[in-house]
Amino acid sequence: MTALPTQLEREAEARGALTQREHERQAVAAHYENHPEIFSLVLDRRLAYATGIFRREEEDLETAQARKYAWIAEQLAIQPGQTVLDVGCGWGSNLLYLAEHTEGCFRGVTLSARQREEALARAKRAGVEGRVRIDLAHVEELDLPSESLDAVLFVGSIVHMHNREAIHEKVARALRPGGRLLISDCFFPVEARGDRDSAASRYIFETALGYCRLLHLSDELGLIERCGLDVVRVEDLTASYACTLGRWIDNVRAHRGRIETLAPGFPRVLQVYMTIARLSFLRRRALEYMVVAVKGKPPRPLAGGVQP
Ligand SMILES: C[S@@+](CC[C@H](N)C(=O)[O-])C[C@H]1O[C@@H](n2cnc3c(N)ncnc32)[C@H](O)[C@@H]1O
Repeated sequence: MTALPTQLEREAEARGALTQREHERQAVAAHYENHPEIFSLVLDRRLAYATGIFRREEEDLETAQARKYAWIAEQLAIQPGQTVLDVGCGWGSNLLYLAEHTEGCFRGVTLSARQREEALARAKRAGVEGRVRIDLAHVEELDLPSESLDAVLFVGSIVHMHNREAIHEKVARALRPGGRLLISDCFFPVEARGDRDSAASRYIFETALGYCRLLHLSDELGLIERCGLDVVRVEDLTASYACTLGRWIDNVRAHRGRIETLAPGFPRVLQVYMTIARLSFLRRRALEYMVVAVKGKPPRPLAGGVQP
């Protein structure tokens, strides 16, 4: 079942694909162009702007994010020399963790020049800059040769992209057989709980974050499957995201003065949108899932050449 389009989605359709791409480039980037120091006061030390994985409610943010990085690394199982694309790499949280813990080659892409600058500086400090490239671009304009990538991640980023069908097709084509796709993001439950066009939703999706499009999980999985990938894992991280947001809100409160100095009015934006999002996850009006899929490999001949 496909979700009824929200007002924001209808506006995106009316703009047309190219204008919508430019709209995302500007409206979404505006949030991430804020000073990285602000986010360093709110997020974990690697600046993950996405959920951690909490096992207990009282765990701290660093523990939950460290578990998430390790979990992603395990799912992607990157081998020496393999090529990885992190779409919406932010300040490099997952990308740099993976670069530091594997011998893969990494390409990140972000809409924010400031994020790119910060991520490259962090790559240098970590001594992995030789295996890390970061582009300032919209994913739709990347030239991705077919069967050139071993893994693609979208962590907290695909929700900003309207043109999902085309993006899934592009990424699936670029994966090698056996290549992995990992998506961690927000979805609407199929059963409508609450008003998806409420002023509160619009505040998060437009005022705070520029543009967001939440699908039903089943619709996103359908797009992945239709591009020839097998879904091998789905984890419900809704409760973890509510905990993560709780920690972020505490940090915004604790550093309100400094954030206000760096970006007047921004502490309020952060606190309001994070509080609405946290309540939505607690009430399961929005859901958070991590999905792993693999591009099907052609069947290998059995030993001795016997075929079924
Ligand atoms: C919530 S942040 C997530 C950052 C990072 N993945 C993490 O987990 O810390 C969303 C990121 O997606 C990027 N982004 C959003 N839409 C994009 C697009 N169409 N093309 C490339 N990057 C995009 C933003 O610039 C930002 O870096």
